[in-house]
Amino acid sequence: MNFLTHVLHLVGTGAAAYNLARQIRDPETRPNVLAGFQLAESGSVPFLETLSQRTATEGDAWLAEKLAKHASDEKRHGQIFAHGLKQLNKQVVDFKNLPQTTSEGQPDERRRSPFFEAYFEGYSSEQLKPEVLDWTVFMASPYILELDASKDFARMANVLPEEEPTTRNLKQGILSIAKDETGHAAYLYEAMTRRMPLADVQKLIDEWRTRKVNALLAMVGSLLQRGGRTPSLVQKLASTETPDEGTAASNSELIAA
Ligand SMILES: [Fe+2]
Ligand SMILES: [Fe+2]
Repeated sequence: MNFLTHVLHLVGTGAAAYNLARQIRDPETRPNVLAGFQLAESGSVPFLETLSQRTATEGDAWLAEKLAKHASDEKRHGQIFAHGLKQLNKQVVDFKNLPQTTSEGQPDERRRSPFFEAYFEGYSSEQLKPEVLDWTVFMASPYILELDASKDFARMANVLPEEEPTTRNLKQGILSIAKDETGHAAYLYEAMTRRMPLADVQKLIDEWRTRKVNALLAMVGSLLQRGGRTPSLVQKLASTETPDEGTAASNSELIAA
């Protein structure tokens, strides 16, 4: 990683963490943050499960087991965010009901992620399928994201006020997520060192760190283009569902799972 990338990484990570912390502390913007994380965390589950099955077939039982545990952790993370949303009487938008394109004919902005487009630049969606994905990519690309997520989640949890039981529960939930993400980064690092010399691991990590910096810049660029407006990912809880009453019990079950 060159010096400029390093500086941009520090600035970019700091700014993104600050922005997330600010958004989750503000009750107005909190639902959208929770929804974004619910989608990201739950969305990674089928991907990780397929990778686990593939790795088992390829004969790496150690990695297959780590990936299976990783998938079940991410499922639980998604549930913690969904639960936090439900307590606010909100749920994630139903993507099936979203228009494919806006009235101007542009793809609906909730269906694309400038961050991921930049992060995986040069890879086609075909190449990114878990059945065929190059193993250096599936170890190094999530490694960087997990490593940063563990710190981001801890920061976000720490700005949540403790006075209210609902927020206190959410804080405990997010802190437990942060701990899991540290574990995910650790096994992914170990997985890389099991397959390649340390110098090559470092080179790979540097490459993905640079990609993360570029992806953050792309995300900020797109945010500026929209005048700072983020597309809404939440809707009111359907009338058939009731917001949770016994919040403490159900969230601590999720944390202890
Ligand atoms: Fe997670
Ligand atoms: Fe994770």
